[in-house]
Amino acid sequence: MALTGDYKLISTEDMLQGHAELCIHAYGFVKSMALKCAIELGIPGAIHGNGGGASLGELATIIALPLSRLPRLRRLMRVLTVSGVFSVEHQQPDDSVGCAVAVYGLTSASRLLVGDGETSSGLSSLVSLMVDPNLTAPFSGMSAWFMDDEQPRSFFEMHHGEDMWDMAAREAALSRTIGDGMTDDSRFVVEVILREGRARDVFSGVRSMVDVGGGTGTIAKAIAAAFPHVECSVLDLPHVVAEAPADGEVRFIAGDMFDHIPPADAVLLKSVMHDWRDDECVKILRRCKEAIPTREAGGKVIIINMVVGSEKSKGNSTKKEEAQALYDLFLMAFEGGEREEHEWEKIFLEAGFSGYNIIPALGIRSIIEVYP
Ligand SMILES: C[S@@+](CC[C@H](N)C(=O)[O-])C[C@H]1O[C@@H](n2cnc3c(N)ncnc32)[C@H](O)[C@@H]1O
Repeated sequence: MALTGDYKLISTEDMLQGHAELCIHAYGFVKSMALKCAIELGIPGAIHGNGGGASLGELATIIALPLSRLPRLRRLMRVLTVSGVFSVEHQQPDDSVGCAVAVYGLTSASRLLVGDGETSSGLSSLVSLMVDPNLTAPFSGMSAWFMDDEQPRSFFEMHHGEDMWDMAAREAALSRTIGDGMTDDSRFVVEVILREGRARDVFSGVRSMVDVGGGTGTIAKAIAAAFPHVECSVLDLPHVVAEAPADGEVRFIAGDMFDHIPPADAVLLKSVMHDWRDDECVKILRRCKEAIPTREAGGKVIIINMVVGSEKSKGNSTKKEEAQALYDLFLMAFEGGEREEHEWEKIFLEAGFSGYNIIPALGIRSIIEVYP
């Protein structure tokens, strides 16, 4: 058989290394689905509940797995340990099989998937949102969308025939999946904000805040609890506000951020701007500017999103850069995207703001204070 293309130009070692790398890239979806499966089976919680370590047999008992599936569970755990989701803590003797067996543990990633058993699922619902079939299926059509600019503006819309917000308004299950995922994310972000002094400082002088696109109010409630001097409200679409628990902790307002934003010292936009095109962000920011007082009187917009490239010079930057690039392409399915600093600056100026300050205190994300 004749070798074609560049095969003959590279060494056998490079060919075989390249083949392994291609398998890893092409089977990236297997990793995502293995992670989804582990969450659905409750494996992170099972390991945590077993004192932080569990053998295959112990896991099978805790999650009530049919015995016939046990050998397959080993293969699932192999993928999840080589990819760093779980670890092999140590080997322990197991009389039932007559040899030592692996005891699986949690890593810094899977520790975040353990909830409190009551109100919080850790980041499990967020990961479930990221791998939801409604969101992943449109990626199969990405190349067709790239090559045909007569197609709808996003490949989500090309696949589903409507954009994600219209679909979520129609399908309660999708709306819940988005809401639960974003609630996890908000809890996580608030936890980091409250731990990090320079992030806490952003809220210290604020007397009133409206969380625009604030979902069911997780961040607003946490900010109101941590900073009792801040009067918090949430603006979101009517079908989202209708689902919000009316417990009186914060005020909910049903509305459209493109039409009107209620007045406050500060407007918070967390994980909102990356869903919209530049011209749409300019419109949202103009509504924000109408809602807040002057900079001298304490007016500001607080954006929580990525500033792509801001992590380049720091340690462990490769993982952060990869996470930022993946997030950005994921958002392209919905016509969204992450921005570099010069892209942010352009929309701030166009919306009539005078300055901004980036606080890179949230890992792959930053807090951006934008001043009128
Ligand atoms: C990605 S979610 C972010 C939710 C929340 N800020 C968080 O980080 O947990 C985007 C939110 O924007 C809301 N949204 C979308 N279009 C909107 C509009 N025109 N006016 C107000 N809210 C809107 C959605 O309903 C959703 O709650």
